[in-house]
Amino acid sequence: MATERTFAMLKPGVLSRRVVGEIISKIERKGFKIIGLKMISVTRDLAERQYAEHKGKPFYLDLLDYITSGPVLVMVLEADQAIKLFRLLCGLTSPDQALPGTIRGDYALHTSTNIVHASDSKESAAREIGLFFKPEEIIDWEDANQKWI
Ligand code: CMP
Repeated sequence: MATERTFAMLKPGVLSRRVVGEIISKIERKGFKIIGLKMISVTRDLAERQYAEHKGKPFYLDLLDYITSGPVLVMVLEADQAIKLFRLLCGLTSPDQALPGTIRGDYALHTSTNIVHASDSKESAAREIGLFFKPEEIIDWEDANQKWI
C-alpha cells in the first residue's frame, strides 16, 4: 500500500474551544505520523490561494472571513492511504451528514465552521502542503513503531 502525505488544518475556533489536544489525539490514535505541525494566522492572500477552487460560490467570502478570523494549526500527516483515511476520520463536509465518532461529527454543527480541513486528492495534498510548508519544516523522522501500525 502506498505511503501518502496529506494536509490538515484545524480551523479557527479549535484553539478557543480548547480542543486542540483532543483532535490531535484522534489523529495520533489512528496512526498518522505527524511530520509537519505549526500554528499560523492565515492571511487573506493565502486563504484565497487555498480556496481558489471555491471562488464565486455563495459561501466563498464567508469562508475567507472565517479562515482568517483566528489562528489555525496546519499539519502534514503521513500514512498508507493518508488522504482517504484522514478524510474518513474528518467525516463528511456537512456536519449534519458527518457520522458521530468523526471529527466533524463530534465537534461541529455547521458546514461553514466545520472545524477541520483535509486534502481531497493527491494533487490537492501536494498543492496545499506546498502552500503552507517550506520543505525544511517537514521532518521525515524515523518511526520505530511503524510495524505495529
Ligand atoms: P473544507 O474541507 O475546508 O473545504 C472547503 C470549505 O468550504 C468546506 O470545508 C466548508 O467549510 C466550506 N463549505 C463547503 N460547502 C459549503 C456550503 N454549502 N456552505 C458553507 N460552507 C461550505
